[in-house]
Amino acid sequence: MVRLPRRPLVAGNWKMNGLRSSTAEFSRIVEGARKLAAVDLMICPPATLLVLFAAAAKGAPVLIGAQDGHAERRSYHHETDADVRAKALAARRAGLCAIVCVGETRAEREDQRALAVVGTQLDGSVPDGATAENLVVAYEPVWAIGSGLTPTPSDVAQMHAFIRQRLGLRLGEEGQGIRILYGGSVKPSNAKELMHVANVDGALVGGASLKADEFLAIASVYDQQSRNIG
Ligand code: PGA
Repeated sequence: MVRLPRRPLVAGNWKMNGLRSSTAEFSRIVEGARKLAAVDLMICPPATLLVLFAAAAKGAPVLIGAQDGHAERRSYHHETDADVRAKALAARRAGLCAIVCVGETRAEREDQRALAVVGTQLDGSVPDGATAENLVVAYEPVWAIGSGLTPTPSDVAQMHAFIRQRLGLRLGEEGQGIRILYGGSVKPSNAKELMHVANVDGALVGGASLKADEFLAIASVYDQQSRNIG
């Protein structure tokens, strides 16, 4: 079976940011999204705004996600790979798609252990039977989250190729369809460079997703590329 190119996904993780008044900023994202037909867009607001944003997104080309699986859960809440896998399975049972985040710390990268660490996280966190419909993987080096630092394109290429290979070994052909996002200090200024890296199927954006202009600028980079391929 020949798979079609993976449709990019640009997801904005608002973490605990945002008030009811942020619906105005979200509405600007929704308006801009109507012009981007070749990319999937998602906003993950804090739990307090989920209902509000879901109502505002009704009928619009913006998916709404809830947050529960980030590197901070692993470090502050001591969540294990088995916990992450159980949550991804629970999401699947509820008919949801889970974004499972993996990534090494700075010390682990400096010790040349980044691939080994991410490989272990991936093997432990991805449930059996995962498909492109119920799973997205996000590679988020812990040291790049909110720091303004990003790995070099060749480090991203190496890691994403590694994740793709590992998904293939585990899931066969289905592993080719699963989207692998890059996350960690993605901004309009570096989106293009990261997008050109093989096996980068979109972005998981934190800080820059809070501003409609910045989020849409990142999304349109992927939209353009996807139109060129499609
Ligand atoms: P950042 O956050 O884009 O602000 O680095 C990324 C994330 O936490 O998913």
